[in-house]
Amino acid sequence: MGLAALAIAALGLCLASTAAAGNTTKVLTGHINPDQVYSFVYVPFDVPVGTQSIYVYQNYSLKGQGNACDLGVFDPRGHEDPQGVGFRGWSGGYRNNFTITEAWATPGYIAGAVYPGTWNVVLGPYTSVPSGIDYELTVTLSTDPVPGGYFAPNFSSSRVGPDPAPAEKWYRGDFHVHTYYSDGDHAPSFIVDMAKNQSLDFFYSTDHNTQASNLIWGEADPADLFVGRGIEVTTRSGHWGALGLDRWQWIDFRPQANTPGVDLAFANVREAGGFVSINHPYISCPACNWTLSDFVDADGIEVWNGPFDGPSNQTIAKWQELLVAGNRVTALGGSDYHRAPRLVGQPTTVVRTSALTDAGIMDALRRQRVYIVEGPGMEIDFTVTAASGQVTEVGDVVAGSGAFTAEVKVTGMNGGILTLIGPKGPIFQQKITTSPATVTHKKIEGDFVRVEIRDAAGSMLGLTNPIYFHQVQKS
Ligand SMILES: *[C@@H]1O[C@H](CO)[C@@H](O)[C@H](O)[C@H]1NC(C)=O
Ligand SMILES: *[C@@H]1O[C@H](CO)[C@@H](O)[C@H](O)[C@H]1NC(C)=O
Ligand SMILES: *[C@@H]1O[C@H](CO)[C@@H](O)[C@H](O)[C@H]1NC(C)=O
Ligand SMILES: *[C@@H]1O[C@H](CO)[C@@H](O)[C@H](O)[C@H]1NC(C)=O
Ligand SMILES: *[C@@H]1O[C@H](CO)[C@@H](O)[C@H](O)[C@H]1NC(C)=O
Ligand SMILES: *[C@@H]1O[C@H](CO)[C@@H](O)[C@H](O)[C@H]1NC(C)=O
Ligand SMILES: *[C@@H]1O[C@H](CO)[C@@H](O)[C@H](O)[C@H]1NC(C)=O
Repeated sequence: MGLAALAIAALGLCLASTAAAGNTTKVLTGHINPDQVYSFVYVPFDVPVGTQSIYVYQNYSLKGQGNACDLGVFDPRGHEDPQGVGFRGWSGGYRNNFTITEAWATPGYIAGAVYPGTWNVVLGPYTSVPSGIDYELTVTLSTDPVPGGYFAPNFSSSRVGPDPAPAEKWYRGDFHVHTYYSDGDHAPSFIVDMAKNQSLDFFYSTDHNTQASNLIWGEADPADLFVGRGIEVTTRSGHWGALGLDRWQWIDFRPQANTPGVDLAFANVREAGGFVSINHPYISCPACNWTLSDFVDADGIEVWNGPFDGPSNQTIAKWQELLVAGNRVTALGGSDYHRAPRLVGQPTTVVRTSALTDAGIMDALRRQRVYIVEGPGMEIDFTVTAASGQVTEVGDVVAGSGAFTAEVKVTGMNGGILTLIGPKGPIFQQKITTSPATVTHKKIEGDFVRVEIRDAAGSMLGLTNPIYFHQVQKS
């Protein structure tokens, strides 16, 4: 071996030991009892000054064999603040490791300052065998410099279409979509592609318990598609859609059912101008059915989740019950898209507003100017016309006087059975035999009337929010 080769070998050794010196690894272990399922367990670790990256690897006993344990992290700003100042990411049960640096982070985690101090891994035991969960967290801290500049968010456009918008019109969207920033399989660009294929004008990004994807939609949103900020707040007592969030906003998923923390989380969404929607209240998975609050505490209900099924049918029955009791809760739909065979925009929720902006869409939701159809090419134009000639559209209180006539123009639902429904149930039914088709009916009674169109087997093709016959009685 010549002198030069020796020098290179020595240099190589030296570099390797420098790199190794830049990393420290600690293994944190512990035990979670079965009675801690549905609570959250914090595991602290210290991050010294000069740390450039944090890598955490999670392992636990009987994973997938009776035990399931979610994963997330809070930085030294704390884990108690309900606004989530210290929140740095969540991946539920979808990932077993994450990295956070100034420049980038694992999807679902928030890149940026690697603050020195005490960080906390948050573990969310979800199911447990009787002997509990033994966990092991391997934390590697590195002082190696990380390439790339400081993370900069790229938010989606806040308005799509001309400003001011020419007139009110119906816009097609989806209020429940996941990406690989939580447990979906796909990148934002793929979701955008599918939304365009499905003729959508907008959708809301609703990854589980993290705002991470809301920070980057500007990298993928085309000029003619509005992408709204949302989170599917995945609690231990059901899931809800926090829709219309501010930039960076996070919503606390940890409050237990019927506690002030739940009210505060709802209030935080509304303060941002957003909307609280109960998601799929009757689906059957552990901790999925809705017991977090009273149904009437929410602004809306996802009455149709993905391809129409029994739980959605049950939700519609619940919604009818709420309407009959005088609770004007908005019905909306969501594909809950994670991967095939679901489709973004199945169902499609159509809203009437003057502008494709967050404020415009949220206003339409609050005013119930909303109907839902199974997918592209389907439309429902439902109005009530007074003898005096005034026309009222979905979500509104009838204007005018004299006898009222309901009129429904339906496109793309040939073969469906249209039902007009009032507080006492069906008031009129007619088979749709053409597309488009127009159905009219003159005898309407009760406080509201709404439309459902189902196929012969009872599967939903489309439904509208009601038209009302009285103002809400405010006490
Ligand atoms: C140190 O940690 C960083 C970040 O996790 C990693 O990329 C690098 O390979 C590690 N270096 C060594 C020598 O293990
Ligand atoms: C994960 O933990 C289990 C037991 O708790 C152990 O058998 C397994 O080897 C661990 N896997 C890794 C990759 O550390
Ligand atoms: C870390 O997570 C990624 C997915 O985010 C996965 O592909 C990889 O296999 C995981 N690493 C280990 C060691 O399990
Ligand atoms: C969108 O449609 C195009 C053309 O049919 C197709 O090639 C593409 O795969 C579709 N994208 C998605 C995400 O479904
Ligand atoms: C956001 O990403 C798009 C697409 O990559 C890019 O054209 C645009 O300049 C980015 N905007 C910001 C503010 O970084
Ligand atoms: C919620 O679902 C669980 C099963 O997952 C069931 O035992 C429980 O009775 C349900 N509660 C309500 C209020 O529907
Ligand atoms: C939907 O629920 C109603 C009761 O609310 C029931 O009569 C009907 O059979 C159900 N239809 C389907 C398709 O599940």
